[in-house]
Amino acid sequence: SIVNGNEIFAAARKGHYAVGAFNTNNLEWTRAILAAAQETNTPVLIQTSMGAAKYMGGYELCNMLVRETVKSMDITVPVVMHLDHGNYEAALEAIRAGYTSVMFDGHDLPFEENLEKTKEIVDLAHAANISVEAEVGSIGGEEDGIVGAGELADVEEAKQIAALGVDYLACGIGNIHGKYPANWTGLNFDRLKEIADAIDTPLVLHGGSGIPKEQIQKAISMGVSKVNVNTECQLAFQEATRKYIEAGKDQEGKGYDPRKLLAPGTQAITDIVKERIEWFGTPALG
Ligand code: G3H
Ligand code: ZN
Repeated sequence: SIVNGNEIFAAARKGHYAVGAFNTNNLEWTRAILAAAQETNTPVLIQTSMGAAKYMGGYELCNMLVRETVKSMDITVPVVMHLDHGNYEAALEAIRAGYTSVMFDGHDLPFEENLEKTKEIVDLAHAANISVEAEVGSIGGEEDGIVGAGELADVEEAKQIAALGVDYLACGIGNIHGKYPANWTGLNFDRLKEIADAIDTPLVLHGGSGIPKEQIQKAISMGVSKVNVNTECQLAFQEATRKYIEAGKDQEGKGYDPRKLLAPGTQAITDIVKERIEWFGTPALG
């Protein structure tokens, strides 16, 4: 069933585990992520970036795709339909389209304006029983046109944003979107501790692809309750598809049929999502 994120993440922070949020791009991605959640019997977030929503034909279509796929696959685990890194307009559109959770990413605004806009989105979304993620500091690197310098989140700013009643908070702690550079020095656990000590809000770790398992698990033990993963699914899909084509399978037995051609990549996404769910310690539902 499609739910909002509130209960899932409040329980996760208290229970010192995280729930994964995985980006979708199309039907196969959606099916792959849902299959992993169902097979592990755990809750999951499916999220679309603004770019992916545009690619897929808009927020209404994304919302419908996920909801109808949940039905057609008989998915019984809780699924949150989430907007990833939305600007103000995108957050409003996703709320209107029926998403159950939205991220308003105001990291590039002056802080006062981030605070103001986040409050507006929180008020609107909560009135419609929709959860809200906000961001302080920024995530380094680039994802679908969202660029960040990677500034560490300021603890005072985190407190002020949390006080608006946001349901989960993304904070810059040295994490980066996309592949991590060879000279990356790791997550800033000192800053994470300061933030986690200051607020009870479940924290979100963006840039989940390429962070060593030990660092992810340490961050989760300290208050991270949502981990976002995108690039790793893309790499897994690419690798499996490439192997299939390089082995000439796309020519054997009508292997060029898209339903066959896309199957190995889709399975590879399911496999990586299942592995990440295990890393995050998401407990199976009773
Ligand atoms: O918002 C999405 C994530 O932060 C994904 O980052 O592509 O590095 O896994 P990633
Ligand atoms: Zn992100």
